[in-house]
Amino acid sequence: MATFEVRGLGKQFPTNPPVYALDGIDLTIEEGEFVVLLGPSGCGKSTLLEILAGLQDKTQGEVLFEGKPVQGTDDRIGVVFQDASLYPWRTVQRNVEIGLEFRGVAKGERREAAGKYLTQVGLAGFERKYPHQLSGGMRQRAGIARALATEPDVLLMDEPFGAVDHLTRIQLQRDLLALWETHRRTVVFVTHDVGEAVYLADRVLLLSPRPGRVFREFVIDEPRPRRRGDISLLARESEIYEALTRIEEQADAEEVSP
Ligand SMILES: Nc1ncnc2c1ncn2[C@@H]1O[C@H](COP(=O)(O)OP(=O)(O)OP(=O)(O)O)[C@@H](O)[C@H]1O
Ligand SMILES: [Mg+2]
Repeated sequence: MATFEVRGLGKQFPTNPPVYALDGIDLTIEEGEFVVLLGPSGCGKSTLLEILAGLQDKTQGEVLFEGKPVQGTDDRIGVVFQDASLYPWRTVQRNVEIGLEFRGVAKGERREAAGKYLTQVGLAGFERKYPHQLSGGMRQRAGIARALATEPDVLLMDEPFGAVDHLTRIQLQRDLLALWETHRRTVVFVTHDVGEAVYLADRVLLLSPRPGRVFREFVIDEPRPRRRGDISLLARESEIYEALTRIEEQADAEEVSP
């Protein structure tokens, strides 16, 4: 069974005038797939991800998670946002434990799980630090450990590496792929960065704005492990850049026409 089935999804925000954020989105995300959502700013990537996460309501269409309509948030779905959104007054460990705490998991078990996932993201030894004592990249790692701690089937990630420096970003991408290869959870990952998209994805869905639609799909079947700068990956990258340019040209043409 597919992880997500989305049919005819639409989203309007009831502002004045209304914002048509998404329209006629059809997509299927298979179990274990790494799908990247890419597109210009404002095309509805975050809105789509939030609808998959059950954090926002849709206005049209159907969204199924493992065959059942999405209704509110679900323990089987972990979410990572652009800023790690850690609680500043909690230690790293207590931040990572939070989902388990909500579930009523006993202290010892929570501690063990937090330790395990902090180790997996390379933060062993930082359990007792507070978020302000970590670098931006380390905070993102803690955010990922928190999402993993409840052992979700799916990770939804909204520009998780957008706020870190280039070298850290490359390291985090590598680490995320290693985690994905171990657990084979379904990942839906939002980015603006075409290089990041082709390095990570099995499939890139390119969204166009006003309202957001799936403009094109690119299957990235380059073998793994991939090497950044490989000629075949660069070729895929330029194919996607071309499509992005066409989206921008189309948007410009629509703006000048009466
Ligand atoms: N709560 C809201 N009320 C009204 N309009 C909204 C709301 N949230 C988002 N929008 C609008 O919906 C559209 C899609 O927004 P969204 O944040 O999903 O885009 P995005 O692709 O994630 O952009 P970015 O790449 O800049 O993060 C935008 O035009 C935005 O202004
Ligand atoms: Mg966004």
